[in-house]
Amino acid sequence: MKSTLSLSTYKFYINGEWRESSSKQTVDILSPYLNEPIGKVQAMTKEEVDQAIHLAHQAQKNWADTELNKRAQYLYQWADELVNKQDEIAETIMQEVGKNLKDARKEVIRTADFIRYTVEETLHMHGESMKGDSFPGGAKSKLAVVERVPLGVVLAISPFNYPVNLAVAKLVPALITGNTVIFKPATQGAISGIKIIEALEQAGVPKGILNIVTGRGSDIGDYLVEHEGINMIAFTGGTKTGTHIAKKAGMIPLVLELGGKDPGIVCEDADLELAAKQIISGAFSYSGQRCTAIKRVLVHENVADELTALLKEEIEKLSVGSPEQGCTIVPLIDQSSGDFVQGLIEDAVQKGSIVITGNKREKNLIYPTLLDHVTENMKVAWEEPFGPVLPIIRVKSDAEALQIANKSEFGLQASVFTKDINRAFSISNKIETGSVQINGRTERGPDHFPFLGAKQSGMGAQGIRKSLESMTREKVTVLNLS
Ligand code: NAP
Ligand code: G3P
Repeated sequence: MKSTLSLSTYKFYINGEWRESSSKQTVDILSPYLNEPIGKVQAMTKEEVDQAIHLAHQAQKNWADTELNKRAQYLYQWADELVNKQDEIAETIMQEVGKNLKDARKEVIRTADFIRYTVEETLHMHGESMKGDSFPGGAKSKLAVVERVPLGVVLAISPFNYPVNLAVAKLVPALITGNTVIFKPATQGAISGIKIIEALEQAGVPKGILNIVTGRGSDIGDYLVEHEGINMIAFTGGTKTGTHIAKKAGMIPLVLELGGKDPGIVCEDADLELAAKQIISGAFSYSGQRCTAIKRVLVHENVADELTALLKEEIEKLSVGSPEQGCTIVPLIDQSSGDFVQGLIEDAVQKGSIVITGNKREKNLIYPTLLDHVTENMKVAWEEPFGPVLPIIRVKSDAEALQIANKSEFGLQASVFTKDINRAFSISNKIETGSVQINGRTERGPDHFPFLGAKQSGMGAQGIRKSLESMTREKVTVLNLS
């Protein structure tokens, strides 16, 4: 199958203009399943990054002064443009990151819904007033008016696996609250990012409010993060990268959504049919390339054999192959990711794990693999595969499951499967994660729920209201009435 995207060289977009870089360098974007370049993006220079940030600052004052209901209209239009271009954008997502067309289209529609909900939420976000005399000795003549104001220029950095949704989940809260944005997409996701900008340009927004900078994070990432013109960073990506950014960024607000090793805890009394379906859906959607994927099963030994058989049955129903055939298990984002996942499988097998199904590879297509009798000395018990491999760890009690769950450096989400709600809450209350799903797969959505990682899984919170708060600060004006 050949790419249907013309092998274009895409330009970057700053201050309302599409431009080529003076570096005359570009970065090839390789399709993970077509195994051929589908386009080139600009490798921007530091001077061009300086220009982008300077122009974003210039635009920010007028944008913040624009009536909120006018900013809202631009962004509603953006949502409509994304829906109008959903086929083109979904095709781009598929070819660029290997996500099947159904999931890619779902991502675009989810993003348009995200924009509309975020705008609506902002229109109904009001400040508060406070009277001085409610504090001992405070004067009745003092009245505080508390509002939220924008931070300035937000640096939004997004990952490859949701190249549209996890970009706009930063861009729209920043823009609607009066910030301007420097948007750095994942390199493999940059063409999808450019399609987002094309849609926004169609909405007729003022110049300079949203600027896309392209080039490898390893080349321009540190310069962006350390730039004195950046007032806030919203990042989604791996824990290693996020930790690096946190060390580099200055005294500015950060929101970091990082890696995960979400456990699926299956109690002795669980509905095993339900658990099996939810676990497989949670572990293997988009080949497990989701931060919230279930990445380990902690199951009571008394029901482990039955659950394993059910998991095997569900795995063997999964479609494997090209995203163009609508498959769930698709080639991983690149060969090195395939090498990493295969290495985890081989390490586990070498140390005594039993392959229930899978352990088969064709280039960067890894077949869905279920490993039983995984023990704590195996890498797959602790590493984030970001691929279609699921380790089963057998435990003797809820306490042991909790001990292993909390031993992980990660703390994004967890799933607990039990019929006893008191048992569910007792476990949930002790799990060190941002959120817990009871009798459901781990997932970020719906997008208005708070979404956050504990420990090495993040800093700060996403979720629409939380993102609006993280991209603004309070401003207190005290009236001293006579
Ligand atoms: P990644 O390799 O960490 O890259 C994420 C973003 O950071 C990309 O845009 C990347 O640009 C950029 N970057 C790289 N080095 C940088 C630097 N020094 N300074 C600034 N930016 C830099 O992550 P990924 O491979 O795209 O995504 C997979 C990882 O993200 C997994 O660990 C997954 O768990 C995590 N993730 C977490 C969430 C969540 O909500 N918690 C959601 C999705 C993914 P380049 O592409 O140009 O390198
Ligand atoms: O890895 C992307 C993360 O945000 C997962 O999103 O909705 O698939 O759980 P979701």
